[in-house]
Amino acid sequence: MLFGTQRINGAGHLEVGGVDALELAERFGTPLYVMDEQGIRERCREYLRTFRRWGKPPSVAYASKAFWCRAMAALVAEEGLQVDVASVGELEVALAGGVPPDSVTFHGNYKKEEELSEALEAGVGIVAVDSVDELRSLSRLACDYRRRQRVILRVAPGIDAHTLDTISTGRNDTKFGITIENGAALAAVREALGLPGIELMGLHSHIGSQIQSLAPYELLVEKLMDSCQVVFRETGWMPDVLSFGGGLAIRYLEEDTAPPIADLAKVLGESIHGAAAARGLKVPQISVEPGRSIVGDLGLTLYTLGPIKTVPAAEGGTRTYATVDGGLSDNPRPLMYGARYQALLAARASETPDTTVRVVGRHCETDALFDAALPGPRSGDVLAVLCTGAYNHVMASNYNFFCRPPVVFVSHGHARLVVRRETNEDLLRRDVV
Ligand code: LLP
Repeated sequence: MLFGTQRINGAGHLEVGGVDALELAERFGTPLYVMDEQGIRERCREYLRTFRRWGKPPSVAYASKAFWCRAMAALVAEEGLQVDVASVGELEVALAGGVPPDSVTFHGNYKKEEELSEALEAGVGIVAVDSVDELRSLSRLACDYRRRQRVILRVAPGIDAHTLDTISTGRNDTKFGITIENGAALAAVREALGLPGIELMGLHSHIGSQIQSLAPYELLVEKLMDSCQVVFRETGWMPDVLSFGGGLAIRYLEEDTAPPIADLAKVLGESIHGAAAARGLKVPQISVEPGRSIVGDLGLTLYTLGPIKTVPAAEGGTRTYATVDGGLSDNPRPLMYGARYQALLAARASETPDTTVRVVGRHCETDALFDAALPGPRSGDVLAVLCTGAYNHVMASNYNFFCRPPVVFVSHGHARLVVRRETNEDLLRRDVV
């Protein structure tokens, strides 16, 4: 399974964005994150194109937490997407990359007052408010700036998105948002409508990530529209915007399901029109915040294989461990979420695999990444791990004081370094003795 512009070239090597993966490893070193810029631009366009069919201009806000750096910020701004940030750090990068502040939505379940002030100072378009405490602080601060800040209220709709517990965020028992079921959301709307610094635009809900079925989204539309009906009846206010967060899955493995973007747009579009008509409500603007489904399958990691050992396996027989020059510091997802990946040897991409190896990192931990079937792997081979575009670079750490890998964008036969490799001097920079 190859993605975006990935292909196997005449030499039998993996190629991406028209550049040979072996050349990339040679030129930039390993470990190396490679992002398919052409593929990502096309994905952004696909989101805008498919959502545009559903009435009012859609708001597609890229969730920067999935993969972020200045070049990515510039890319999404050029493609006309809005941006969702979850910290002032992400906001800073957005602004440095040329994202217009009013196209930014500022998220987070604990935004400190000084961070809300920074957001107001920067002029962010929308603040996604997560609690009543935050609503009050924001109103006060906005008044100091003589401003009414546009706000969406994050609500907890009581939906199980049937994904991993750690990334399922729409249930009643969650730290995120304001509960609909017990009336807290209605009370928050009522309060927001009376606060001088707040201009309430809509409701938001993000129910989870790597969601492989569209059924939870259909249910989400129903729940949010039910809530709108109650709110409208009680307050006379109807949201202009309903934001459904991100969450669409990608295919890490053959057996995974990833609904097409057009199907997500259709399900949200049709359900919202149907639900509005059934309740006699106006149709709100649809807003989505995709992260993983924009970059996840369009990034890969190149490693150089080191020691390969065959040992007695616990269950009998033998196991072969193949070590990469990275590990949990550049990809914590296998250890955190039990995530699995596909990999191939960049130089022998079309050869039939004959050996199953357990790919492990070089940390002082049992940082097994995943099992992979490879054609006769040898020390020195370049291993390409696919679908590492989301939640890898941004979740990388310095564990064991390894330096974090660089990021390269590839497009139309060219590669450009967009984040340089960390150095030992970088590691010492914050150390003030
Ligand atoms: N909007 C909000 C408010 C979010 O919290 C998230 C992700 C998104 C949008 C984007 O969701 P996506 O389209 O990427 O699923 N580190 C985990 C994923 C955590 C997702 C957190 N929130 C992982 O590696 O699987």
